[in-house]
Amino acid sequence: MSEQIVHILAFESSCDDTSVAVVRARPTDQIPELLAWSVQSQFDVHSKFGGVVPELASRSHLMNLLPCLEKVLSESKCPLSEIDAFAATHRPGLIGCLLIGHTAAKTLSFLFQKPLLSCHHIESHLMSVALDGDPKFPFLAAVVSGGHTSLFILESWDEIREVGVTLDDALGEAFDKGAKLLGFGFQGGAAIDAAAKNGREDRIPFGKVNVPEFNFSFSGLKSELQRAVQRKPDGVSPEDFAASFQRALLDHLFQKMQRALESFQLKRIAIVGGVARNSLLRQRLENWKERGVIEDWYAPRPELCTDNAAMVGVKAFRKWKRNEVSTLADDVHSTSRPAVARRPR
Ligand code: KG4
Ligand code: ZN
Repeated sequence: MSEQIVHILAFESSCDDTSVAVVRARPTDQIPELLAWSVQSQFDVHSKFGGVVPELASRSHLMNLLPCLEKVLSESKCPLSEIDAFAATHRPGLIGCLLIGHTAAKTLSFLFQKPLLSCHHIESHLMSVALDGDPKFPFLAAVVSGGHTSLFILESWDEIREVGVTLDDALGEAFDKGAKLLGFGFQGGAAIDAAAKNGREDRIPFGKVNVPEFNFSFSGLKSELQRAVQRKPDGVSPEDFAASFQRALLDHLFQKMQRALESFQLKRIAIVGGVARNSLLRQRLENWKERGVIEDWYAPRPELCTDNAAMVGVKAFRKWKRNEVSTLADDVHSTSRPAVARRPR
C-alpha cells in the first residue's frame, strides 16, 4: 500500500448489472473519492423474457466484466499493481451472478496478495448517498429497489439498524408488476413515473395498507390495480392508472417514513436504490422539506441509485478502515441475513 493513498477496486454483479469501480482515499478520510466507474446493464438480455433469467444473467456478467474492468482501470489511470484491496458484493443476490464478481475479486486478491473485502449489497446501497453529498447523522434511510425495501436508521456510516422491512414485494417489484399489467414493459418503474405525469392520481381509489410498525406490504396494492384494470372503467387512461397506482405506492412509503421519523425523532431522510430515481418521490421529499416536516433529504444522483460498484467501493473502504477483511474461503450467499449490522443506540 502506498503510504498516503488507498485505492480499492470494487465489483458488483448481484443481479443484472455488471459494474466495476475504483475509489481512492486517505486512510483518515471518512468516505473515498470515486475515481472511475462503469456499468453494463443487461436490459436487452432479459426484457424479452419479462424478468431476469438467472442463467443468462451469470453468462452476461462473464462477458461484461472484463470490458468494464479495462474501462475503469484506464479511466482511473490506476493499474492493478497499485490497487490496495479488492472488493465485491457477496450477498444477497443470485448465486451464479454473485460468484462472477466475487471470484474476480478473490482471484485478484490472491494474485496481488492484497486484502479481499466482501460487501453486503444493501449496506452498499446505504453508502451510495455518501457519493453525492455529506449527510448529517442520524438519519432515516429507505432502501427502495427492485429486490429490497427496508427502513434503516444510520447513526454513523458503520452504525446501521434495520427498523422495518417489506413483508412481501419490494417497492420496485410492485412498480414493475404494475407496469407489466399496464403494458409498459420490463422493469417499467421509470415508465410509470413518466406516464403518471400525464395522468390523474385520483381516478382509481386504493385502500390504505395496514401492516404493523415500520413494515411494508405492496402486493395488495398490485392486486387492487389488477382488479381495476380488469374492470376497464370508462374514460380512465393508462396514464391515470399509472398516476393513481404510483400515488398509492408512495402514500404507503411516506406513511411509514413519517411514523419512523416521529417514533425515532429523526429530522433527515435518505433514499437509495432504483426507486430513489422516482421523480414524484423526490418531489414529495422536497415538499416535506419546504413544509419543515424534515430538515433535509439525501439521494445519490439517479445513475448511482440502481446497482453499481461505486457504492460497493464506499462500503469496502469503511470495511478496510475497520480491518474487516475477508479470507479467500469466504463464500457468496443468496440471502440478506445475517442482516446488516445491528448495534444498540
Ligand atoms: O436498485 P435496482 O437496480 O434493483 C435492485 O438492486 O434490486 O433498481 C431497479 C428497480 C426496478 O424495479 C425499476 O423499475 C425501479 O428500480 N426504478 C424506478 C424508477 N427507475 C427505476 N421505479 C420508479 N420510478 C423510477 N423512475
Ligand atoms: Zn440493488
